[in-house]
Formats: sequence, C-alpha cells, structure tokens
Amino acid sequence: MEKTFLMVKPDGVQRNVIGEIVARFEKKGYHLVGAKLMQIPTELAEQHYGEHKERPFFGELVDFITSGPVFAMVWEGENVILTARQMMGATNPKDAAPGTIRGDFAVTVGKNMIHGSDSAESAEREIGLFFKEEELVTYEKTMNNWVN
Ligand code: TYD
Ligand code: MG
Repeated sequence: MEKTFLMVKPDGVQRNVIGEIVARFEKKGYHLVGAKLMQIPTELAEQHYGEHKERPFFGELVDFITSGPVFAMVWEGENVILTARQMMGATNPKDAAPGTIRGDFAVTVGKNMIHGSDSAESAEREIGLFFKEEELVTYEKTMNNWVN
C-alpha cells in the first residue's frame, strides 16, 4: 500500500492544530503507521529541502523548519501521496482553496502549516530521512475493510 511523509510544521505545532490536521487524514480513511514530535537538526532540514538549496528562500526555510518542534508522520492508503497534497492545498496559502489545510489555517507561504511528499520517489526518500524502519508500525484496523 502507498505511503507518504507528512509533517505539521513549527507554526502548526505552536498554533495547536496537530490534532485537527491528524483528524482530517484519519477521517478521510487513511492509516497512520508512524508519528513523532521532534526538533529537526539543521543538517536534516538541509537534506530534506535539498531540492531548494539554490532558491532565494532556502535559508529562511531551513531557519523556519528548525525554529521549533514539528510533528512528523507516515500515512498509508490508496493514492495517499497525491490526495494528501490535494488535502493540503496549494503551496501559497493565498492560492489554497477553502477546505484545504493551507486554505483554512495559513496565510503566508513561509508559514504554510504542513509538508507533504510530492511523488513516490520523494515519499520514499523523506520517510527514510525521518524514520527508522522499526519506527513504522504494521497493524490491522477493521476500518480498512470499510474504506477499501
Ligand atoms: P515547495 O516544495 O515548492 O512547496 P510544497 O511545500 O508545497 O511542496 O516549497 C517548500 C517550502 O518552501 C514551501 O512549503 C514553503 C517554502 N517556500 C517559500 O517560502 N517561498 C516560496 O516562494 C516557495 C515556492 C516555497
Ligand atoms: Mg515540496
């Protein structure tokens, strides 16, 4: 089953919406297989956002993502990578539709609440950066038979 890496950014943790964000993915019918509250070391932040290292906002992005704890998660489900991105909304909250996480909770691109992997390759890479294999849990939920 497809897995993705999602992370409530420091603004979301400070603004007390971890639970609300988790609830959206739970209610959708996705399956949580790993989660932790953590402070991202600078080196991990630079690796995670490595694709943006030449962009003018890179320094600020790394400063922001390391400015406080994040809530890192791995979610599983059919088509979860793309659908989670749709549930997050556009990168810039001013373009994010109401009903999406960024559309409902965020105002500026620099503080847009949530990260989500954008492809199968980034999902695999990001899960590997943030989680050890033994931190991911395999378990059954009877709910799954009512979702899939
Ligand atoms: P990006 O990977 O393009 O967006 P997404 O998070 O939707 O995958 O960019 C990573 C983060 O960098 C983005 O969530 C917020 C920040 N960012 C800026 O601060 N300014 C910008 O102009 C862009 C494009 C991104
Ligand atoms: Mg991205």
